Amino acid sequence: MTQPTLIRRASHRPRLLDLYCCQGGAAAGYDAAGFDVTGVDINPQPLYPHRFVQGDAIEYVREHGGEFDFIHASPPCQRYSRAQKIQHRDHPDLIAPTRAALEATGRPWVIENVEEAAEQLRDPVTLCAAAFGMRTYRHRLFETGGGFTFAPPPHPAHLAPLTKMGRPRAAGHFAHYVGNFSGVQEARDDMRVPWMTRDGIRECIPPAYAQWIGATVLQTLLAVAA
Ligand SMILES: C[S@@+](CC[C@H](N)C(=O)[O-])C[C@H]1O[C@@H](n2cnc3c(N)ncnc32)[C@H](O)[C@@H]1O
Repeated sequence: MTQPTLIRRASHRPRLLDLYCCQGGAAAGYDAAGFDVTGVDINPQPLYPHRFVQGDAIEYVREHGGEFDFIHASPPCQRYSRAQKIQHRDHPDLIAPTRAALEATGRPWVIENVEEAAEQLRDPVTLCAAAFGMRTYRHRLFETGGGFTFAPPPHPAHLAPLTKMGRPRAAGHFAHYVGNFSGVQEARDDMRVPWMTRDGIRECIPPAYAQWIGATVLQTLLAVAA
């Protein structure tokens, strides 16, 4: 197993590469954990609040991945989502080539995706938004590599019913922020992504997930170096 290296330098924030960054849900969490964040997306992302590079994520990580202390990748999930399969839309599999490019960097990394991509991911850890106090479940899977692993917080039982998609949240219910969901401001408040549009919210991981992972990266690597 690759040994993590000391990533916190005396006067610098460690460098985080945020591949497939979209509007920056993951980025906000790594920033809060203490990383200096650079995002890469194939599309312009004017709402991304950190250093941004427009381009292909795999090409970028092949060229620059080794310059970063930790790498997060959220390849688009459309290939795996049920709706897209029903509509017979064909999307490229980006998980395998992203993993190959990450492994070649020699740096620690995580690949995030939806539950429908479980078969493509190796021993993923599941994070649930209810574990972080949100009123949604939003399960996301995280495969780790390059010597990094992490444990999730305890997964609470799903006791609150889910409001049907597209309807306003009923009292005491949890919501599902996918598709053309209703209640953008409520979703912003719940997932703590106040700068995002509906499109960004639909795609994002809650910053709390990345903050949890980022804090573990720092603790793990500092512990190794101590
Ligand atoms: C699921 S979203 C990422 C969400 C983000 N991690 C967050 O937490 O807000 C996937 C993003 O991948 C981008 N994308 C798709 N193909 C790409 C490629 N080849 N290189 C870079 N970005 C790409 C899309 O434009 C989209 O913004």
